[in-house]
Amino acid sequence: MEQLMHAEDFFGPLAVLIGTWHGEQGLDVAPEPEGEARSPYFETITIEPVGDATNAEEQTLAVLAYKQVVSRKSDNSVFHHQIGYWYFDRNTKEIYYSLLIPRAVAVLARGRATAENGKWHFSVIADAADKNYGVLESAFMAAKASTKRFAMELEVQGTTLHYRMQTDVHIYGRSFAHTDENTLKKIS
Ligand code: HEM
Repeated sequence: MEQLMHAEDFFGPLAVLIGTWHGEQGLDVAPEPEGEARSPYFETITIEPVGDATNAEEQTLAVLAYKQVVSRKSDNSVFHHQIGYWYFDRNTKEIYYSLLIPRAVAVLARGRATAENGKWHFSVIADAADKNYGVLESAFMAAKASTKRFAMELEVQGTTLHYRMQTDVHIYGRSFAHTDENTLKKIS
């Protein structure tokens, strides 16, 4: 495929994300009825080219698909699984990031990518009050553990990827900043 031969032209900033990434230094901070749980984790994120998607014969998005599998260090069990896409609009330079998780929650976030001294920085945000870049969740989750906002900052420099995600959840009668952060190395 031609786009694979010219990945940087085709995928723009997203080209640096393509690959398989592994990290062992993750920390999850998740809500508990009383307080929070802090869980160290390891994970593998695979990010691969899809190609392009043309919408209404006007918009062309360059698209990558990803899968993120996260395991708790204490017992090696998978405790978070996430799939979605990265999208880049070459005309507007906008980045979109979607996610689906097994809790019956979906998010479409929007943002930008910037580069400085060889480091790419991606920043995306979704807000439940935004009808385009927002949250879709089951009735159960809306009532009991509703996602109000999602934000992620992600940096790539060479073979190192670092991210920090913050999911604001309304649960157990209060607002909780559910955070996840890890540093990964490109393994292929
Ligand atoms: C590395 C990423 C993540 C990890 C390791 C993780 C892990 C966890 C854990 C351990 C809990 C506590 C409940 C339980 O023990 O199952 C939790 C709760 C929750 N997470 Fe995440 N999470 C991650 C990312 C996300 C993202 C991206 C979203 C949505 C945008 C999300 C949405 C939620 C919600 C809504 C809850 C509340 C449900 C509950 O506690 O019963 N999480 N997560």
